[in-house]
Amino acid sequence: MSHAPPVPVLTIDGPSGSGKGTISALVAEHLGWRLLDSGALYRAVGYAAGMAGLDLSDVEAVTRCAHSTKIQFRAATDGGATRVVVNGHDATDELRTETAGAAASAIASMPSVREALVALQLGFRKSPGLVADGRDMGTVIFPDAAFKVFLTASAAERAKRRYKQLKEKGLSVTLGGLQREIEARDSRDASRAVAPLKPAEDALLIDTTGMGIDEVVAKVLAVVQP
Ligand code: C5P
Repeated sequence: MSHAPPVPVLTIDGPSGSGKGTISALVAEHLGWRLLDSGALYRAVGYAAGMAGLDLSDVEAVTRCAHSTKIQFRAATDGGATRVVVNGHDATDELRTETAGAAASAIASMPSVREALVALQLGFRKSPGLVADGRDMGTVIFPDAAFKVFLTASAAERAKRRYKQLKEKGLSVTLGGLQREIEARDSRDASRAVAPLKPAEDALLIDTTGMGIDEVVAKVLAVVQP
């Protein structure tokens, strides 16, 4: 009996602003692999719950919402970033805000919400390979991944990067406010009981403080293609 080898997975975990999103997209493109932006799933559920007027601390209601929310990723027609469609509405821009990040972080601490999103995430593992971006990709969702990376950067540097990103999108934010929000979200993500933000034991840690995008991409690619 012959068994097909498992589809290879590269997990890229880390806190917000560590550059995960940008790096994951570039590495996936380079390898010709699929991309799972798991943070977008939590953001989408938080957003859908907000749109439905749910109390974000109501575990049962939010869990039902996690099961029923229809989330689709669509290639942008203008060659730009992938669009995220939530229950038929293109919510890409709303999902990028810090408000959506905070809502995502709040509902992501609920074990039943995380459970509701497991099958969806596993479904992204398709040939020729998958780059999975998140907080628990290497520890919980794809513990058997052949390649694991954990990206970090100082909170000040991460706040600066987010500030630049959000300013470019025309959003009104302050650097100090962003850094406080990022630190609060990190500490909630790292201290939660279920799937806390922490590196897998077999992950390569890369501190990206002061590093350029190309340099980080090269380091991550070297994990897959030494
Ligand atoms: O990565 P991103 O900033 O889009 O994630 C938003 C929030 O979703 C995180 O702060 C975290 O609370 C949650 N999340 C998670 N597990 C993942 C991805 C994101 O708990 N795998």
